[in-house]
Amino acid sequence: MENEKLICLALEARNKAYVPYSNYKVGAALLSKSGKVYQGCNIENAAYTPTNCAERTAFFKAISEGEREFEAIAIVGGHQEELTTYAYPCGVCRQVMMEFCHPEHFKIITAISMDNYVECTLSELLPNGFGPANLI
Ligand code: THU
Repeated sequence: MENEKLICLALEARNKAYVPYSNYKVGAALLSKSGKVYQGCNIENAAYTPTNCAERTAFFKAISEGEREFEAIAIVGGHQEELTTYAYPCGVCRQVMMEFCHPEHFKIITAISMDNYVECTLSELLPNGFGPANLI
């Protein structure tokens, strides 16, 4: 799947964000190796700590549907309707990616619009990450 299409699905997911506290809306679109896309948004909570990031919403939806292998994720985030900065995944989300994704191959696309994005690998964002391979 093209990056542009995945970004478009992340932008769509962002519209569903539940953010009464931060008003910072994030959307994610996760592409599995099977070719399916799982969309996620951030979901906040009055008690703050139960808040779930958009990326993890997408991962947990996919994992709970039986998916285990992933190719890429597109992420968009910002306060305003018009996005101005690239939204990179938080540390906890990077660690969740580490559980299910190949650090050198998994692609993270963070976008401002469909034609303004940067792409990197999980290992670039989480060098020397701790993952399942460490426990073999
Ligand atoms: N957030 C995400 O959804 N993804 C990230 O990687 C960083 C932060 C959300 C959590 C919270 O709802 C809001 O952004 C502000 O932290």
